[in-house]
Amino acid sequence: MTTISEQLDETVKAIRERVSASPKVGVILGSGLGPFADGIADLVKIPYGELPHLPTSAVVGHAGNLCFGRVGDVPVVCMQGRVHLYEGHPIASVVHAARTMARLGVSSVLVTNAAGGLDASWSPGDLMMVTDHLNLMGTNPLIGPNDAALGPRFPDMTTAYDPGLRDDLAAAATEVGVSLRKGVYAGLLGPTYETPAEIRMLRAMGAQAVGMSTVPEVIALRHMKVKVGALSCITNLAAGISATELDHSEVEETARAKRDDLARVLGAWIQRAGKR
Ligand code: HPA
Repeated sequence: MTTISEQLDETVKAIRERVSASPKVGVILGSGLGPFADGIADLVKIPYGELPHLPTSAVVGHAGNLCFGRVGDVPVVCMQGRVHLYEGHPIASVVHAARTMARLGVSSVLVTNAAGGLDASWSPGDLMMVTDHLNLMGTNPLIGPNDAALGPRFPDMTTAYDPGLRDDLAAAATEVGVSLRKGVYAGLLGPTYETPAEIRMLRAMGAQAVGMSTVPEVIALRHMKVKVGALSCITNLAAGISATELDHSEVEETARAKRDDLARVLGAWIQRAGKR
């Protein structure tokens, strides 16, 4: 069996046959936010299906391409769509694209996601800086033999969300005139949305947002010593807080409606992250 490191070498070799870019910043585009990648300069798009070890997603709203190019003068690689654990992929596959960005040499990765809001005073469409997370997915991408070529057996998670990138995000949002919430993201396996009792539990645990992604990628990236920042689009108030039942099409619709604001924040954030 090949190691993760050998698999990453194979993925990177296939990328190198198509593009010679040296991205500085990686971006993971969540639900409804994929079109950001189509706006980057000098775009080279590689479907995940054309690269070894990258799984493809069947979820509506999640195109699957690795996109290379520039935002301003910052060379970037964007994951246009991601796969989720609930789709049934092994967790190593779920984080393989993020690890590929790390192996390509990015120093920072900016993660976006759609999330439910746990604070009744928030509104769908609010944007939230992730300050920390709760891993409630019941698994971890680092389970199994540690590949020391990637990182240590017991990675520190004290500053999983890099303080400098958080400052950059706050400054970027101010620069483009978009207001930001701040909070802890609870990562759950899904694919069911939560019950109202689960939402009460998450609130008691100190979470402000809940979603079904991000946590595995952040863990895999921190293992590889990549700086991480994350931005949630609060697409709905969570179950029991919202007066209505939850529906994926509404999640997508809100993410789509906030796409321009998010793209402006992300563009300004990338400029700052590119200087780190
Ligand atoms: N719960 C979990 N994941 C989500 C939600 C939610 O309310 N909204 C968007 N992703």
